[in-house]
Amino acid sequence: MEELVSTKTHDETRQGEAFSPIRTQGQNFKKHFYIESYGCAMNFADSEVVASILQKEGFGATTQPENADLIFINTCSIREKAEQTVRYRLNALKQYKRQRPGLLIGVLGCMAERLKSTFLEQEKLVDLVVGPDAYRSLPALIEDAGDGQRAVNVLLSRDETYADIAPIRLNSNGVTAFVSIMRGCNNMCSFCVVPFTRGRERSRDADSIIQECSNLFYDGYKEITLLGQNVDSYNWVNDKTNTTVTFAGLLQMVANISPLLRIRFSTSHPKDITDEVLFTIAKNENICNYIHLPVQSGSTRILSLMNRTYSREWYVAKYNRIKEIIPDCGISTDMIVGFCSETDEDHQLSLSLMKYCQYDLAYMYFYSERPGTLAARRFPDDVPLDVKKRRLQELVDLHRTHSLQSMQRDVGKTFKVLVEGASKKNKEELYGRNDQNKVVVFPKENIQKGDYVMVQVNRCTAGTLIGHRVK
Ligand code: SAM
Ligand code: SF4
Ligand code: F3S
Repeated sequence: MEELVSTKTHDETRQGEAFSPIRTQGQNFKKHFYIESYGCAMNFADSEVVASILQKEGFGATTQPENADLIFINTCSIREKAEQTVRYRLNALKQYKRQRPGLLIGVLGCMAERLKSTFLEQEKLVDLVVGPDAYRSLPALIEDAGDGQRAVNVLLSRDETYADIAPIRLNSNGVTAFVSIMRGCNNMCSFCVVPFTRGRERSRDADSIIQECSNLFYDGYKEITLLGQNVDSYNWVNDKTNTTVTFAGLLQMVANISPLLRIRFSTSHPKDITDEVLFTIAKNENICNYIHLPVQSGSTRILSLMNRTYSREWYVAKYNRIKEIIPDCGISTDMIVGFCSETDEDHQLSLSLMKYCQYDLAYMYFYSERPGTLAARRFPDDVPLDVKKRRLQELVDLHRTHSLQSMQRDVGKTFKVLVEGASKKNKEELYGRNDQNKVVVFPKENIQKGDYVMVQVNRCTAGTLIGHRVK
């Protein structure tokens, strides 16, 4: 099945099915591993935890699967297509297995959790299956698999947050980094497989988050994205002091590390984002004015079937509140078309909500039934594929006009941009992002990666603002 998403690529690591080989970390390792990550930013962040666990055991990272003793695929189950992509990839890896019989192949992440040991039976070439909460057991499982034993651990945990593990930054630009602040999800959106693959929600020790963010800053990083499926429900109880840290409190603590450290976060569930969070963003210059606020549908009837716990009107009021407290806030969304029983009338409501919100960025999908979810058990997946595709195309076309207008509104404005590196198209240019997460390209001059520069926008494309530096 083919699906369409936003044509914008400046947030490629979210929800994509892209993979990311990593750079070599060292020379004197007993063995080498290669890891590819699929899915959301949390999976990419998990691969950095896995790399840290493996490096401690004497395994070094390699960017070449043909040089690896271990190949890991960190997988995503969010839609059928994401799983298909992984299956194709596993098939392609067969060649390495044939060439090198001692090679071990491991499946990590959400697909491992969903399919558990059936993976070993279905995919004959897979030697290890390890779920998202079981990465500490990887060294022992690698030994078991090396001895020809079944190596499966898909136990979900109520308290694992890998708080004490310093992730090894993979494929890093040295400027921006992800930091996981929580794991799992307690919401039960009826379409979603995440609560089943990632387990119960748990918040990570705030002190360990601050430590990790401070270390990143002192290592030269300038932007941190705090990650969780629902960051606004972050809630950590410090047993020693009997105090609670909320998401607003955590944001403030991270913002206090340095005014030169930028903070982003993802993802917010509209029901949980509070005024306190919005005021914290508004009062701190280094917390970016950008919120990803997935709506999923513009129809209250469909939202109710999706178990999103808000209505269209409630969402619009939340949207308005954000714009009231943070007037220049960039807002993006996720939308699903063709959910069970969705009529043309429901679809028109999604289009009209999109017209109202004029999102800066949107990720759009057609509904993909996931086995075991509430929707799969309760409602027939009854919107024909051609109708899903047509509706998705309509939504994508509409969003394209909004995102272009959003870019055009910025022509003539000046933004503070954090420089992330050389532009892919022109080596004489650099690129970075503004507060609202828009990509800005400008001449290199003597500007360095990691600098903040003021850039005035001269023109734009659908995905990029193009400008020049102003003092
Ligand atoms: N936790 C976030 C939230 O609540 O918005 C995002 C979760 S998910 C990783 C990212 C997006 O994938 C969702 O917002 C939704 O639009 C989409 N998605 C999830 N399950 C889906 C399904 N079964 N079919 C199509 N899209 C799906
Ligand atoms: Fe899935 Fe809903 Fe949890 Fe997001 S909030 S991960 S969509 S169950
Ligand atoms: Fe995919 Fe799991 Fe993330 S299903 S979107 S990798 S939490």
